[in-house]
Amino acid sequence: MATKTAKKSTGSSSRSGNSRSGSSRGNGGPTSRSGNSGRSNSGPSSSSRSKGGSSRSKSGGEPGSLMQKFFLDELKDIYWAEKALMKALKKMSKEATTEELKEAFMTHMQQTEGQITRLEQVFEILGARAQGKKCEAMSGLIEEAESVIEDTQDDTLTRDVALIISAQKAEHYEIAAYGGLSTLAKTMGQSEIAELLVQTLEEEKETDALLTSIAENNINMEATQEGGEEEEE
Ligand SMILES: [Fe+2]
Repeated sequence: MATKTAKKSTGSSSRSGNSRSGSSRGNGGPTSRSGNSGRSNSGPSSSSRSKGGSSRSKSGGEPGSLMQKFFLDELKDIYWAEKALMKALKKMSKEATTEELKEAFMTHMQQTEGQITRLEQVFEILGARAQGKKCEAMSGLIEEAESVIEDTQDDTLTRDVALIISAQKAEHYEIAAYGGLSTLAKTMGQSEIAELLVQTLEEEKETDALLTSIAENNINMEATQEGGEEEEE
């Protein structure tokens, strides 16, 4: 049976919210690049710009170009991913143990709503219909988060540790997608689109850093001391 020792508010330490300093955001993952001037973002595109000449005009951002088709496809992918993640975040918030994590998920859910709106603006700028296309990666990550919920017990900090890791996997996917797409938009001369995507990129990085700081603020440590009496399955 369960060892429900660590309930929602162990109170002992700083689990209540303002521990999210933000200063410690380098831990783990793509966030570590955040100090850079912005161009470091993994996009494949920045080097291709030197060709520039007329013979390559169909590889740029012109309507109907191969690049724009690719770009649109990627937008559809992340559009689908955001919508799917919205639903998942709601569930993750419900299943989280600590108030701090519940709140973080709810906040990011609201942010995600804004991110979806931004993507719709991007579609509009491109004169395309906002449309999703199933993102297998996000679908898999959400499935993983669901199985983590099944595999951990209610009201444990282990549940929160697991959810944080699941959420960070999803954030890192999004960081990669928005990093690449914003770089590409710049290359295509679509500065307005690039700006919208960078705004979202920054939010994803902040969320990732926040999750890291929640984990560092005792959840991980306390979770390691969580009882082992329960039966193994
Ligand atoms: Fe997002």
